[in-house]
Parts: sequence; structure tokens; C-alpha cells
Amino acid sequence: KPYIVIMAGGIGSRFWPYSRRHKPKQFLDVLGNGRTLLQMTFDRFSDIADPEQFLIITYSKYIDQVKEQLPELEDHQILSEPSRKNTATCIAYATYKIFSQDPEADLIITPADHLVLEGEKFIETMNLALRVAQKPDRLVTIGITPDRPETGYGYIQYIDRDGEEAFKVKTFTEKPNAALAKTFLESGDFVWNSGIFVWKAESLINALRLHLQDLAEVFEEGLPQFNTKTELDFIQKAYTQVKSISIDYGVMEKSEDVYVIPSDFGWSDLGSWTSLYEIREQDENKNVVEANALLYDTKTSFIKTDSDRLVVVRGLENYLVNEEDNVLLICPIDSESEIRQFVADAKKKG
Ligand code: GDD
Ligand code: MG
Repeated sequence: KPYIVIMAGGIGSRFWPYSRRHKPKQFLDVLGNGRTLLQMTFDRFSDIADPEQFLIITYSKYIDQVKEQLPELEDHQILSEPSRKNTATCIAYATYKIFSQDPEADLIITPADHLVLEGEKFIETMNLALRVAQKPDRLVTIGITPDRPETGYGYIQYIDRDGEEAFKVKTFTEKPNAALAKTFLESGDFVWNSGIFVWKAESLINALRLHLQDLAEVFEEGLPQFNTKTELDFIQKAYTQVKSISIDYGVMEKSEDVYVIPSDFGWSDLGSWTSLYEIREQDENKNVVEANALLYDTKTSFIKTDSDRLVVVRGLENYLVNEEDNVLLICPIDSESEIRQFVADAKKKG
């Protein structure tokens, strides 16, 4: 059975003020169905992995939220990072940790904050990926058919041979600029990188040795300390020594033996209020309402509050009204690119 490594350390402030630094989106029940994205990620893999096979890696401040949301896990299955050093570092930590206990281990690395609508198809894809990843030193990633020139994703171009289910990757371009993304989309032979990776622990370690030597050296020196009392001390020190880099720039763009499995399981990385609006149930006026609200002449809007306060709205279209804690945000729902600015300015205002 594979080990499932869930990366749950990101900040993800794109649903601000709903998602906050102290409560990023992986810890939110975004569908309003009683399960958070982290919990749904855990559920999704339960068909192919027992609870003991999971490892959650997260920023130290979020440890308590993880424990609370996943009581199925033992404390040692939750890895605490003293600082954020991006995905290459967090994947290296989890991989060396598992490798030190089981050198033959198969790993699935997944973000904690994505949505998958078709669970069965998803598991089929994972099983295929696990088979393809058996070849030594092979790295496998899952691809998604693009529908817009998104610049926040990685793009994968692959070599298409008849009769194959998994394809050899020709180029991997992490976060292209807008012009390049447009070319990729138009050319038709690119898929998005979903950020879900499948490989043998040893394959990834060999790739780290090749492409992120410094990072590999730090962890290899600490290997004897894994699963001992001094693991935490080692990690504290290691995290001051390594640089912050993503697995995409650090490894995926550079590796030779990368395979992609183009798939379609109702994937969304829920990167914006609009994407969240689209998957939520809408009323007859195409509003998503999670509030004690009276709406007049209002459509295609998202009204969400965390209190009982009565919200009375008239004349809004394509708007977001979101009250959380001490913040009330009212803006056009497609304000994706401005949210960062709102957060920065709000911080200054205190
Ligand atoms: N533990 C831990 N520590 N988790 C982290 C850290 C970290 O330092 N940094 C990020 N994560 C988690 C995030 O919570 C998220 O679940 C996942 O790792 C991916 O990180 P993001 O920061 O969201 O990456 P991205 O969205 O910019 O890009 C990646 O995902 C895209 C798909 O959503 C890349 O893999 C792209 O190529 C891909 O298209
Ligand atoms: Mg992301």
C-alpha cells in the first residue's frame, strides 16, 4: 500500500477574509458539507491507504488544527515544519522520513486544499500512476486538461504514443507568463500540472541528489536522527540551512524520466472566490447564500457571513459579500488579482 503525504502548510489567502493566515483554506469547510478540504483529501485516499499510511506535513502553527481535524492519525504522523520552505523542502522531509523506515516505499504526494469531484476516477488514476512509477527513478505527475491560459499553474507537454495511458513528459514549464500560457493553450498538446505526484521514495531521493544537491545533503546527514528523540532538533537546524524552493522549479522542470497521466476527475484547486462560487449550490437567482440574508434584485452573487447578523442587500450582481471575524469585504466577485492587495493594505490598517 502507498504512503500518502498530504502537504498542508500553505497560506492560501485567496479566500480572504474567509481564509486567514491562522486558518488557511485547507482547514475550511468550503463546500459547507461538514468536511474540510484536508478531511476530504484524507477521505479521498481511504480506499487505497489505511490511516497508518498517511503523513501530514504542515507549518508548526497548524499542528493543532490538523490533529483536531484528523483524529484518526497518531501524533507521529503529523510532521511539523519550523518555517515555510516551500514544497521541495517539505516533500524532501516527508520522503526521507518514510524512506528511513521503508526504503521500498511508494508515495503519493498531494496538496491538502484541492477539490476532486469524481472519487472513483481519481482512485483509478492513482492506481495507474503507482504502476507507472514502479520503474526506478521515474517521477509521475497527474495532468489536467486546461481551459484557460492560467499563469498560476505548471504546464506539461508530453509525447503522445498510441495505446499508452501514461505519457513521457517532453517539457515541464512552471508558471509561464501570460503570453507563453496562451501559446501553450492554443497548441493543444499541454496539460496543467495538478500538483499531485507519485513515485518511489528512492526515485525522488535520487532526483534530489541530482538537482537539489544541497537539500539532499542536509537531509542525508540527518538520516540517522529520523525517528529518534533528536529528529526535531535536526529539523530545526536543517530548516535554517535549506533554501526555499518548490518541487516544480527544483525537480520537475529538470528531471529526465517524468511521466504524466492526463486525467479528468473533476479537479479544481479552488484558487479564487469565483471557483468556489461555481461549485457551490446556487439558488434561483444564481446566488450562493450562506448567511441570514434578505436579497432584493440581486443575482449571481456570493453572500457569506460567519454570524447571525441580518444582511440586507439590494441591487448587486456578480458581487461578493463576506464577513468573517472583524472583516467585511464587499467587492466584485472576480477581484482575484486585487485580494492580495486588500490583505496587504488591511494589515497596514491593523
Ligand atoms: N507543509 C508545507 N510546507 N506545505 C506547503 C508549503 C510548505 O512550505 N508550501 C506549499 N505547501 C502546500 C500548499 O498548502 C498546497 O497544498 C501545496 O503545497 C502546493 O503549494 P502551492 O503554493 O499551492 O503551489 P502552487 O499552487 O503555487 O503550484 C503548484 O500547484 C499547482 C496546481 O494547483 C504547482 O505544483 C503547479 O505546477 C501546479 O499547477
Ligand atoms: Mg496551490
